[in-house]
Amino acid sequence: MAIHVSENGMIFNIQTPNTAYMMGVADKKYLGHLYYGKKIESMNAKYLMRWNYDPHEKQKNKIDCIDRFYFEYATFGVGDFRDSCLRVRSEQGYRVCELVYDGYEIIDGKPAPSGLPGTFAGEGSGQKAQTLVVTLKDEVLGLKVLLRYSVFEDSDAIIRSVVAVNEGKENLYLEKILSACLDMDQEGFELVTLHGAWGRERHIASRKVTEGKYVVSSLRGETSHQAQPFLALATHGTDQKHGDVYAMNFVYSGNFIAETEMDYNESIRMSMGIHPDGFEWVLEPGAAFETPEVVMVYAAQGLGQMTRIFHDLYRNHLIRSRYLHRERPILVNNWEATYFDFDSDKLVAIVKEAKALGIEMLVMDDGWFGNRNNDECALGDWSVNEEKIRGGLAALVDRVNAEELKFGIWFEPEMISPDSKLYREHPDWAVQMPGRDIGMSRQQYVLDLTRQEVVDYIYERVAGVIRSANIEYVKWDMNRPVADAGSMTLGREHMGEFMHRYMLGVYQMQERLLRDFPDLLLENCSGGGGRFDPGMLYYSPQIWTSDDMDPIERLAIQEGTAMLYPLSTMGAHVCVCPNHSVGRVTPLETRANVALAGTFGYELDITKMTAEEKEKVISFNRQYHQYHALMREGNYYRIASYRENQMYDCWQVVAPDRSETLVTYVQVRFETRRKSARLRLEGLDAQAQYALAGTDEVYAGELLMQAGYLQELIFGDYGSRLLHFVRR
Ligand code: DGJ
Repeated sequence: MAIHVSENGMIFNIQTPNTAYMMGVADKKYLGHLYYGKKIESMNAKYLMRWNYDPHEKQKNKIDCIDRFYFEYATFGVGDFRDSCLRVRSEQGYRVCELVYDGYEIIDGKPAPSGLPGTFAGEGSGQKAQTLVVTLKDEVLGLKVLLRYSVFEDSDAIIRSVVAVNEGKENLYLEKILSACLDMDQEGFELVTLHGAWGRERHIASRKVTEGKYVVSSLRGETSHQAQPFLALATHGTDQKHGDVYAMNFVYSGNFIAETEMDYNESIRMSMGIHPDGFEWVLEPGAAFETPEVVMVYAAQGLGQMTRIFHDLYRNHLIRSRYLHRERPILVNNWEATYFDFDSDKLVAIVKEAKALGIEMLVMDDGWFGNRNNDECALGDWSVNEEKIRGGLAALVDRVNAEELKFGIWFEPEMISPDSKLYREHPDWAVQMPGRDIGMSRQQYVLDLTRQEVVDYIYERVAGVIRSANIEYVKWDMNRPVADAGSMTLGREHMGEFMHRYMLGVYQMQERLLRDFPDLLLENCSGGGGRFDPGMLYYSPQIWTSDDMDPIERLAIQEGTAMLYPLSTMGAHVCVCPNHSVGRVTPLETRANVALAGTFGYELDITKMTAEEKEKVISFNRQYHQYHALMREGNYYRIASYRENQMYDCWQVVAPDRSETLVTYVQVRFETRRKSARLRLEGLDAQAQYALAGTDEVYAGELLMQAGYLQELIFGDYGSRLLHFVRR
């Protein structure tokens, strides 16, 4: 199908519908990178091997050759002085690893990673996949390394992962094992990344690539608010429609490193994987270690095309929830409405109002369990507080269901409060190091999820609550990073495995949750958007994007998030004004129009809204039902960015059959004597006519795309419009 190998087995050409990735074996020894870009069928690419030195010189100067070679998977210690992907320590303390080509295998389908999230071929949907496994060996260490490259017949992404197997007789110590590496010529690249903080996650940043290294990473035990496991190298001048883009995104939710390094020879190495700091994995004889996957994308037509490749891949081959293609219930979450100050009557009052407005689910947030009346206590005590929830959880859920609303609930399963029954009973369950005070964050500790008994206990408590009532949605929160990374039971040899084992514990719990409650709608969250990554998407079709719901702050947050992730994955709610994070006052319509770009809901006290506001809420909910399928399944185009033009933001979603498109325009600032904004739409049928809903205006598709739609300026700041064009 898609993977071709030359007759002598020395050249590989991995093809996707529009791209090709080529590698070859130099001197029957080293696996080198040859080409990545637009599709080519030819196998005759050996001349591209950067191994063109005089054979005689090669003997005398092996290290000079190696230091300039384009390795498919670079190792530490043999003379490639750029940052490596693999650093292995032997029992004797040596850190040299030289991987030599040993063979390959092509398998139909795609291996499922064990204990980790990962992409898959659509079950029963005829979506075929193929995987190339190249075997490399270091005979001295007794180490076998499998490089895996998988492709799906409907996607331009390539999925990479690595398996290390100890075939020797002594322990090996993996100090660093990344998932992917890409060596290329530095062709004037700019590097695009996503950065932020709590309340302003995933802002797009870019800079010229120059000599040296640029590192994006997290050591927080989560992908984090601050960083995103994503890198894109883009040729100079790349925009939404033009330019070559080479991107990587990591299917993992813990510590990661993503790096580019430009060396003295004007070549560039891009790599990604588990962060090596603090990491060490003991590989016993016969044991294997499997890395998480990296999704690698090449797009010849700019960042917009890269975005759509990621979106389609994640929708078709990563998110496995039953809700993926289903309309998600419009929810009201009580967090910013009540914080900890609620009881069942208050919630039922919200529910009655919600029903009248067309809202479909109540999510009871933090504060329903133990004696949790503030954020200083009770995490880990997962039993309902009957002073607040009188008559118990099932009674409350019955009251909610009687109003025809679904019920969802908040948990923070990975945490333990020092002031909790659980901590008093099991102080050793907290992540800690003997003799040191445990560092607090949000007045809580982290549970040691490297211990199976802790995972089992917490899982059973969470599952018990879910079983006790008709709970249809869970918000899984995580409100602090992991520090003091130590376990009371892991032991000296294995302590370096802590951070990765912690993630395996989280993944195991979410896996069990989905297995035991297949109809549950899971939404991941981490103090807002601190763990918005492909790893989490495997388990939950939606993730809370940010605690900052101000629609103007959300423009940059959602622009950056949607650069990688489908709109249907972004939790987005209408907030109260002044906004609780930034104090801004914005029109209710704009708050709704921005939230409509994600999984829609409200996070304010709807019982306090005026009659006029309630009327508007009813119409927003109608719009949500009208547009959700389009938002969920459509192709996304970024038309303009407030970040760049400092005036307005605009995005567009087009139905796969091009029959309709919804354009969202948010005008952040109004200025006098400015001409109307020209919105050049994309993805339409050039020959078709499109009617603008709510008007008698009709436009040719080609005009909307070439000349653009002229959006009159809206008087005043923070105005917005939804423009719905329907093919006639
Ligand atoms: C952080 C989340 O992002 C909020 O939505 C809310 O659930 C709080 N945690 C509750 O503690």
